[in-house]
Amino acid sequence: MERRIYLDNASTTYVSNDVLTEMLPCFNTIYGNAGSIHSFGRDAMAIVDRARDRVKEAINAQKANEIYFTSGGTEADNWAILGVAHANANRGKHIITSQIEHHAVLNACAQLEKEGFEVTYLSVDEYGLVKLPDLLHEIRKDTTLISIMAVNNEVGTIQNIKAIAKIAHDYGILFHTDAVQAIGSINIDVQDMEIDLLSMSAHKIHGPKGVGALYVKNGVRIDPITFGGENQERGKRSGTENVPGIAGFGKAIEIACRNHIINNRKIKTIREYFLEKLKEKVEYFQVNGHPHQKSNAILNISFYGIEGESIMMLLDLAGIAVSTSSACTSKSLLPSHVLKAMGISDEIAQGSVRFSFGTNISKSDVDYVVDEIAKVVAKLRAISPIQAGRL
Ligand SMILES: Cc1ncc(COP(=O)(O)O)c(C=O)c1O
Repeated sequence: MERRIYLDNASTTYVSNDVLTEMLPCFNTIYGNAGSIHSFGRDAMAIVDRARDRVKEAINAQKANEIYFTSGGTEADNWAILGVAHANANRGKHIITSQIEHHAVLNACAQLEKEGFEVTYLSVDEYGLVKLPDLLHEIRKDTTLISIMAVNNEVGTIQNIKAIAKIAHDYGILFHTDAVQAIGSINIDVQDMEIDLLSMSAHKIHGPKGVGALYVKNGVRIDPITFGGENQERGKRSGTENVPGIAGFGKAIEIACRNHIINNRKIKTIREYFLEKLKEKVEYFQVNGHPHQKSNAILNISFYGIEGESIMMLLDLAGIAVSTSSACTSKSLLPSHVLKAMGISDEIAQGSVRFSFGTNISKSDVDYVVDEIAKVVAKLRAISPIQAGRL
């Protein structure tokens, strides 16, 4: 059978057995509507409550009622941005974010601009870090929210979240972070890091797709963006609770946070081995992102003189799954907005491929992948009009 190797864990992950076991009874045994007051409903609500406690513990929230379940990271990001902007519009209509955010944040900000809000998109340095003096410079009297992601999904750079949150609070501004790629990768403590709102998603951490959560610190003013039943999620997020998904998310985040140190160590070893082998077998490439302030799971490499899309497609033929930028933009041929914001030329950005590692990858898998990369790169360079050594 053809070998199949999955190196696209930043796009999504498989559901782990422990998570699946947690979810299964919720489909046909504990199937009540968590909003119903009879025993079937109460049983379902008990599952939701347990998951809420698990999420609270994982991020060290003060109270479980600060966790609101959503349909995933996109909804959590949309809600944080739109909900806070709307609820605080009487104080000001200016928001600060960065150019390297996920489109779930960028497009929510674009929507606010259509509604008459002003948004500042901070540039980043060559490693993808927000520059704190720039942030300070852009703060205005009417700024109500700063939203900066914790870990970038394309290059893995980790922002100085605690310092950014402190700056926000010094000026009485709320701070939101998209932690979709951060959970399970770095330690998140919303109290210590002074985070007001934090977005999470289950399917990046071996949980199911279509479920996530927004942490909203008690006291933060936020308007709902969904309208319906007034009892669901304490009137803030209407819609029948996705009990199986929520149960799976609770278990997934508990495991991810419990094991994050050990998993990180494994993934770091594999990533370093990958880079070492790649350097032996392939010439003319660069690693994008911060050299050390970065997630171990994400490795973004530009291969000079060739297109990332072609590399991805040829690797796919060899059974290897990678992506060219974020999953949501991988069907477009535009150079990644993240690499562009980091000042990387279009020519070099076009040659970028994102490898994202899980704990199930062996050294023998890496040997196979690197051999295939070497073949693919040689094949493409032989027909490329651009000389790789020139870049
Ligand atoms: C940083 C980041 N934010 C938000 C999202 C969206 O999350 P979801 O797929 O759960 O909607 C993703 C998914 O790729 C992401 O990487």
